[in-house]
Order: sequence, then C-alpha cells, then structure tokens
Amino acid sequence: MHIVITGANRGIGKTMSDQYRMAGHTVTGTARDGSAQVTLDVTDPAQHAAMAEQLQGQPVDLLVCNAGVYLDKGHDIGGYPAGIWAQSFATNVTGVFLTIQSLLPNLRAARGKIVIISSQMASDNHAPGGSYIYRASKAAALNLGRNLATDLRQDGIAVGIYHPGWVQTDMGGSVADITAEEAATGLLERFEALSLDTTGCFETWDGQPHAY
Ligand SMILES: NC(=O)c1ccc[n+]([C@@H]2O[C@H](COP(=O)([O-])OP(=O)(O)OC[C@H]3O[C@@H](n4cnc5c(N)ncnc54)[C@H](OP(=O)(O)O)[C@@H]3O)[C@@H](O)[C@H]2O)c1
Repeated sequence: MHIVITGANRGIGKTMSDQYRMAGHTVTGTARDGSAQVTLDVTDPAQHAAMAEQLQGQPVDLLVCNAGVYLDKGHDIGGYPAGIWAQSFATNVTGVFLTIQSLLPNLRAARGKIVIISSQMASDNHAPGGSYIYRASKAAALNLGRNLATDLRQDGIAVGIYHPGWVQTDMGGSVADITAEEAATGLLERFEALSLDTTGCFETWDGQPHAY
C-alpha cells in the first residue's frame, strides 16, 4: 500500500510510519520541519498545492490525517485567547480538510481510505469541562469526517475517525496510559478493518465504538 501520514516526524505519526514501513508498505510522511518526504505545514495552502504537485499521479491507498495541536492544555477559564482558537482550528480542522482536498485525486485513483485522528475529547457525551479550544476543534474534525464519509461513499472512499488513546507523546505527556507503539498497533488494525460498510465510524484505538 501507499500510505500518506501527516505529522510523521514525531509522536503517534512517526510510530505509525515506522510500523507501516516495517510491514513493507510505502509511506510518504509529511512534516513541517523538512525531515520527511513531503514538507507540509497543514495550515499553509501553498504547501498543500506543492504537495499535490509532488504526489501527482501517485495513487494513495490510505491517508492518515494525524497532525494536530493541543495549545490550550492546562489553560483556565480566563485564558483562551482568540489567536489560539485560530491556530488550533487552522491545524486541527482546516488542516485536515485541505490535506484531504489536496490528495483527493490520488485517493480516487486507488479507491483509498481516509482516517482522521480526532480524540475522545471530540465527544459531546464526554464533557468534563476545560480545554474548550482543543475539544471544539476535535469535535469539528469528527463532524468533518462524518460528512465526508457521506459524500465520498460514491467514490468508494471510506472515512474513519479515531481516538488514539491517551498516549505517551509530547502531547499526551509521560504519565499517559499507553505507549505510542501500543496506540499505533491498535490504530493500524482499525484502519485495516475500515470499509464502506463501516464508513463514518468513530472508534477507539482498541476497537470500541466511541459515543458521539
Ligand atoms: N497523545 C495523546 O494522548 C492524544 C490523545 C488524543 C488525540 N491525539 C491526537 O493524535 C494526533 C497525534 O498526536 P501526538 O500525541 O503524536 O502529538 P505530538 O507528539 O505533539 O505530535 C504532533 C504532530 O503534529 C505535527 N503538527 C502540529 N502542527 C502542525 C502543522 N501546522 N503542520 C504540520 N504538522 C503539524 C507536529 O509537527 P511539529 O514537530 O512540526 O510540531 C507533530 O508531528 C494529534 O492529532 C492529537 O490531537 C493525541
């Protein structure tokens, strides 16, 4: 398979890339620091256009929209400035949409799949308060995935949305529940199982349906 993974330079994205390569797949990683096959800041439309040109004519079997930020971690009720809202939505929502839009010809050519790494914090049923920006952005990414699943069914493209677990990365912190290896192993199994029969699903890394 040819797999494209955004945010492939560290964390869960890097670990998924490593596991796919170990299994013999071709991975095109993207990173904004120039350390991967494609240089992509997911908030930058010009870099999306350059990626589309670089990958033109290369069918993509699986697109993993993984790049994300959690910029309001630990903020209190007084501390949610507009700039952080804008930057978070540009990355976690617009960035996901632009990535999918840029690679749609490649995905159509392969009748590929799209997976979006959202979060349990996207769920309306899980509302302990706080982290308003991150929660809202991940909820929007979930909504985006659910609606794309409807529209892309006619192209034979399945779309799944996933909670990767609470993972020991720079974002999750060292006391998180699971390692990036455990998260990636579970997610790769979920992506394999995704089909037009399950398109629009919202699932956890270990295979449980997630409440919306
Ligand atoms: N860790 C958890 O517990 C957890 C839980 C739920 C959901 N998630 C989600 O899982 C995904 C991966 O998280 P992680 O834990 O691996 O986080 P991480 O270690 O902080 O890595 C985040 C990745 O996203 C990239 N990124 C951020 N902004 C970007 C931009 N504008 N353009 C391109 N790449 C960008 C980062 O690149 P740079 O190195 O350039 O910053 C990095 O590669 C995220 O979507 C996150 O929201 C994580």
